[in-house]
Amino acid sequence: MSSPPLTVLTATPEEEAAIREAVRKAPGRVIAGPEHVAALLDLFSDPRVSDPIYDLPRPFTLESVGNWVAESRALQLKGECILAVTLDEAGQVAGYSRFSVWPDRSSAELAGAARADRQNTGRGRVGVTSSISWMFDVLGVRLIGLTAALDNVRSAAAIDGAGFTRMGERESHRPDGTTRRSLYWEMTRDQWADLRSRYENGGGP
Ligand SMILES: CC(C)(COP(=O)(O)OP(=O)(O)OC[C@H]1O[C@@H](n2cnc3c(N)ncnc32)[C@H](O)[C@@H]1OP(=O)(O)O)[C@@H](O)C(=O)NCCC(=O)NCCS
Repeated sequence: MSSPPLTVLTATPEEEAAIREAVRKAPGRVIAGPEHVAALLDLFSDPRVSDPIYDLPRPFTLESVGNWVAESRALQLKGECILAVTLDEAGQVAGYSRFSVWPDRSSAELAGAARADRQNTGRGRVGVTSSISWMFDVLGVRLIGLTAALDNVRSAAAIDGAGFTRMGERESHRPDGTTRRSLYWEMTRDQWADLRSRYENGGGP
């Protein structure tokens, strides 16, 4: 039940069409398919992975995860979602990323997790940074909104560290209709370009 950013942008018809096409293609991503359902179920069955994430298909079963993978794929064909898996050196599922995209608003959101043995390894900020870079440069959106549970210190540090602007709190809506209070951040493509040029010139955020 991802929600679009609080800031409302309006895409031109050409911009919207280009974003939908980029989402359908999703270059460089391994799209989750039926062959990944059992591994994703394993991944989510670990509360260290799934507890902080509000929009996963609970309770976790082969059927619920299978439906979620299929629904995500159907949304991708409309240009509105990318559910991707991260594979480790052995080709096993070591994490996932789900990009929710609102092409008519030139906006997107990102959720994801790493397998427990890959957490606390300093990959958090790099993961956020490379994902947002891909969303701005490859998907072509102009705005990204992110949320995290109030007590998710690792996500908050990674999102702050990537240069997002804190914009208070918002309600996140779970698929079962309940809500969760979340920290909320936004970043525009112009802010990202500015940050990147500062990094490239040796500065920080
Ligand atoms: C969120 C997640 C992807 C982060 O990846 P990670 O490799 O575990 O995170 P890192 O080790 O890079 O730590 C992220 C930041 O939190 C900081 N951090 C770690 N533990 C901390 C603590 N107890 N208190 C404060 N900061 C802490 C780290 O120093 C790092 O900050 P930095 O980039 O400024 O150095 C991973 O922990 C995960 O998958 N968690 C479960 C699912 C989840 O929470 N998903 C995100 C939902 S929004």
